[in-house]
Amino acid sequence: MTGDTHTTHTAEDDIRNRDIKIYVNGALLHRDEAKVSVYDSGFMLGDGMWEGMRLYNGKWAFFDEHMDRFFNSCKAVSLDVGMDAEGILAALTMTAEANGMTDNAHCRMMLTRGIKDKPFQHPSLSRSGPTLVIIMEHSRPVEALQTRGIRLATVPQARGLPMTQDAKYNSHSKLNCVIACLQAEQAGADEGLMLDPHGFVNTTNACNFFIVRRGEVWTSTGDYCMNGVTRQKVIDLCRADGIPVFEKNYSLYEAYGAEEAFLTGTFGAQTPVSEIDGKPIGTGARPMTERIRALYKAAIQENVGAVP
Ligand SMILES: Cc1ncc(COP(=O)(O)O)c(C=O)c1O
Repeated sequence: MTGDTHTTHTAEDDIRNRDIKIYVNGALLHRDEAKVSVYDSGFMLGDGMWEGMRLYNGKWAFFDEHMDRFFNSCKAVSLDVGMDAEGILAALTMTAEANGMTDNAHCRMMLTRGIKDKPFQHPSLSRSGPTLVIIMEHSRPVEALQTRGIRLATVPQARGLPMTQDAKYNSHSKLNCVIACLQAEQAGADEGLMLDPHGFVNTTNACNFFIVRRGEVWTSTGDYCMNGVTRQKVIDLCRADGIPVFEKNYSLYEAYGAEEAFLTGTFGAQTPVSEIDGKPIGTGARPMTERIRALYKAAIQENVGAVP
């Protein structure tokens, strides 16, 4: 990455993360010791599913929604989780306690099909049972991104059709997104804006994408992109607060001319977009993004039972 590159996942440096403990199938190991087999199907094939979640006030925000997506994805690829959502919560709690984390922590909870007998693709070669890994870090998104914003470049790598690799799988294999991210970086931007197979604006390589035009909030139809928990929260919050919100097809023409644009994701909540393909978005004033951020913050506080 170049020195000036920022992503929506840029976090404040926190030296405590150098000594965190990682959960690996029930064991808690120092990050330098936490390892999975080179025969693991996640390493070998990207054959696994994951969730990113944030811990506030001792509670995982929107846990039920994350579990809903996770268990649906695992079912769709016949990946036996080996436990229910309560079991996952117990593993998360164990990891948080081992790390003394109660607030402003982020986890990447990953489940793969497990260790293979031989280095080949067939799922039946994974006979060990699944591998569950939880990486939990102290994490505060960089506040400066709220004023600086993210610079997007539209990239040649497009979103796929659901009958190839459905974008709703939060799978270990993120190569489509990684290629898009590389293309954006090579174009001098922070993240890639990806189009759908018809050329409509869809999503970025790591977040969902929204624009604001004439007081309305627009996002893609939801086809071809990750069914983001934050995306759905933003849509629901707009509806509840009387903000006109539309899931629709639109082109770069409308994105370039937007008054505001922002990204959504569990890590960064809502992150403003400052430019797309070198074109500045709006005037830099972001009243709608700020309004939605405030609504989202209140929704998290309500969800985790924190006093605002
Ligand atoms: C490609 C992509 N888009 C969007 C998101 C945001 O989803 P969420 O709001 O559930 O964090 C993610 C997060 O995993 C993602 O990988």
